[in-house]
Amino acid sequence: MVGSANLDIVIPVERLPRPGETVLGDARQEFWGGKGANQAVAAARAAREGERVRLVCLTGDDPGGAAYRKRLAAEGIGRGGLLRAEGPTGTALIVVDARGGNQIAVSPGANALLTPGRLRGRLQLLDFGRAVLAQLEVPQAIVREAFRRARRRGAITILNPAPAPSSPPKELLSLTDVLVPNEREAACLLGRKSGFRPAALGSAARKLLLLGPRAVVITAGERGALFISGQGEPGEKEDGWARPPAGVRVVDTTGAGDSFCGALALRLAEGAKLADAVRFAVAAASLSVGKAGAQGGLPRRHGVLRALRRVSLGPIRPG
Ligand code: RIB
Repeated sequence: MVGSANLDIVIPVERLPRPGETVLGDARQEFWGGKGANQAVAAARAAREGERVRLVCLTGDDPGGAAYRKRLAAEGIGRGGLLRAEGPTGTALIVVDARGGNQIAVSPGANALLTPGRLRGRLQLLDFGRAVLAQLEVPQAIVREAFRRARRRGAITILNPAPAPSSPPKELLSLTDVLVPNEREAACLLGRKSGFRPAALGSAARKLLLLGPRAVVITAGERGALFISGQGEPGEKEDGWARPPAGVRVVDTTGAGDSFCGALALRLAEGAKLADAVRFAVAAASLSVGKAGAQGGLPRRHGVLRALRRVSLGPIRPG
């Protein structure tokens, strides 16, 4: 995996502030975060004994960066890719409301320095695993490099286009096997200002397939995830919805998408078919929202397997 690592500063509030509004919240909390690190921890926790996860990321030369590198290694993520740069570690300011919803602003810090030039002489760090997962909190150039190299050695490339780019990253999408946006990111990639009616999500996924990826998985919060693949790798044509169990306890949705992406990448790397991997990822994400912090609720494999029994698969209704 390649991606970001942030220190998350969180303020719990009753409701999210509107633009220009100040709201008072509870005591400030600090958590480990960053989409790349969250996804790597999600995969490492859901992995079988002996399976290895690597994250190539840049943290700063501040005390937070040193502590984070130690912490990621303690989560079982190989130290090889946990790199250090001059300057501050990435920071996210997050407000979380009483229903678990959030707003996030990120200062990239060291994440912005993760470029192919920076890794010169060490680019082979990117050549790891049967699946390479990335997001867009680091420069696109490093993601393109990682995906090109992954394609050359036959690894699956998985892109979580978050935060949503201002225009579709054409070259990157042509290097992507599995594209995993949420509904808002899917709308952005298709140049839409508003989101989709639930019934139109299937046709949105089909339009996204035309941008280059071989499969599209759209995450839809408590409604689960819709998946669709074209012909060829990975796997034959598959489509459907994976629905989480009813009555999921929600404390904090921060990092639910990361939990999904990390678990999905892990199952695809294990050789699972797309539908199987999406079900596994929905089970993981449904557990991840039960605790505060992006990594607080990331489940271990036995928990995911237990929750999996209550995740259902269904067809995409035409729309
Ligand atoms: O996806 C959640 C993550 O987004 C947070 O951990 C925050 O750091 C931002 O990267």
